[in-house]
Amino acid sequence: MASKIDETPAAPAGGLCTAVVGLQWGDEGKGKVVDLIAPRFDAVVRYNGGANAGHSVVVQGERYALHLIPSGILYPGKLAVIGNGVVVDPEVILQEIEGLQARGVDTSGLVISDRAHVVMPYHKAEDELRELALTAYGGNPVTANGAPGAGGSIGTTKRGIGPCYADKAQRATAVRIADLIRPDLLRQKLILACGIKNPMLRGLAADAGVEAPQFTPDEIIAWATPLAERLRDSVRDTTYLLHDLRAAGRPILFEGANAALLDVDHGTYPYVTSSSCTALGIPAGAGVPGSQIAEVIGVVKAYSTRVGNGPLPTELHDATGETIRQRGREFGTTTGRPRRVGWLDLVAVRYSAMLSGATSLAVTLLDVLSGLPRLRVCTRYEVPGGEPSMTDRFIPDGDLLAEARPVYTDLPGFTEDITNVRSRADLPAAARAYLDLIEEVVGVPIRLIGVGPARDQVIICDETSGG
Ligand code: GDP
Ligand code: IMO
Ligand code: MG
Repeated sequence: MASKIDETPAAPAGGLCTAVVGLQWGDEGKGKVVDLIAPRFDAVVRYNGGANAGHSVVVQGERYALHLIPSGILYPGKLAVIGNGVVVDPEVILQEIEGLQARGVDTSGLVISDRAHVVMPYHKAEDELRELALTAYGGNPVTANGAPGAGGSIGTTKRGIGPCYADKAQRATAVRIADLIRPDLLRQKLILACGIKNPMLRGLAADAGVEAPQFTPDEIIAWATPLAERLRDSVRDTTYLLHDLRAAGRPILFEGANAALLDVDHGTYPYVTSSSCTALGIPAGAGVPGSQIAEVIGVVKAYSTRVGNGPLPTELHDATGETIRQRGREFGTTTGRPRRVGWLDLVAVRYSAMLSGATSLAVTLLDVLSGLPRLRVCTRYEVPGGEPSMTDRFIPDGDLLAEARPVYTDLPGFTEDITNVRSRADLPAAARAYLDLIEEVVGVPIRLIGVGPARDQVIICDETSGG
């Protein structure tokens, strides 16, 4: 006799889910790629990070900067899901909702996991004070290759991300979205949280030589109650929601925030963020098993950028770096900080593609490189005193990587404006050679090429011809 288990319908072969993830240090153009492919999906899902992310989308000349809301929100009728792995700042998300509504965007598809954690005002205070205190303790001596070295601050976005994830791991003081809409439980949690946080904030402030902000449960409840009321109708169990979609055969797109080399486990620790930013974060951060993710699009900026501290082996401190920064408008979407700029690091990208199981690459901002006489690509590191001294393997340790020196393969540059090119075959030969080298070293085919910020400034590569 067949058991109940035999009657359970099988999951769709190969899964119906796609992920878009950053393969460098963030700001690769994930928002643009998500926006481009979102029409194929019923739901776009964030599974990690919080308002530290800044995803820009340019539609019909209008720029949208999204921090917490999935970029799919710009298409009416799609679900925009904030999964349990995200840390939600209620003020930021409400500002974002209002900003979008004011521009005529329908935000009714927004759904927030009841298990997502809440960034509280004391998390932002702690983030800020911790950074100040770490700087005061004496840090970030510059290493041989110009990167900030061990110790010192992380250079966070000060959005309260690390302290919120730390509370999640600590459990008793953490506040989840579901708690925010249950006032009695919230009060109990806040009595404990304020009791622990206030002395800690005083200690950090003393180290930093500044005044300590202090919090009371009543003040926080007065702040949280109206915010919670406005969010209440969007709160759901998103794990079941996503599985119901999956069971109905409806495709889901996961929008990675931050990026692989900022991943708390696999990035340039300790100069990382506090969440799982690769495709490996999807199962935990959205409750959807990895076996359901059939397609992983790794987004690669045609050069490297990094915001905040930590090693960037190919960093440029010269006029070429400044040219790229200006042409690529490399100033943070979230903090406005100038981004550090360097040559493309394929040791890093190959590692990140491996971690996320990238099935294709989207190479963005290729247009920015036009006009540079020579293009350099890092294909190996030289490690002083290392055994062997040359390696083509990434070094996922911030302090060790700071000692590595890039070994470059040089290619000729191209001068043509490529922003109107729409086929890979029509790109200048030098641009094609650059892309060919990326494919060869990373071992993953390029399917999308960004040649400008607008939605239509993209080359969609033909699977069969590679062009
Ligand atoms: P994300 O965090 O990965 O979504 O990336 P950001 O939005 O923070 O940064 C990418 C920046 O590059 C944004 O200003 C985009 O509008 C812009 N952008 C994306 N793709 C391209 C491209 O192919 N060419 C150019 N010139 N800009 C692009
Ligand atoms: P998107 O999604 C670029 C960096 C910060 C800092 C470090 C830790 O737009 O690509 P945090 O505030 O998370 O504790 O900061 O991580 N960082 C990002 N850099 N793009 C991002 O997101 C980032 N999210 C975090 O600059 O160095
Ligand atoms: Mg960004």
